[in-house]
Amino acid sequence: MSASGNTEITVCPRGPLLVRGEIELRDANGRPIEPERGTVALCRCGASARKPFCDGSHKLTGFERPRGDAA
Ligand code: FES
Repeated sequence: MSASGNTEITVCPRGPLLVRGEIELRDANGRPIEPERGTVALCRCGASARKPFCDGSHKLTGFERPRGDAA
């Protein structure tokens, strides 16, 4: 993922990474993934059925931040 302009990433406690701003999102093979909105929520719990996007499943799994994570 690379960005141009102003991009902001917010770590949500027990939730996704919220990415605001212009980004290029790609899958593991380098194929572009179109962001669905201006603000993109990226799953970091591993439970989403819509990876790389968050689908709210973290609320059901009781996801806790990884060790060493600040938020
Ligand atoms: S962070 Fe929301 S489903 Fe994984």
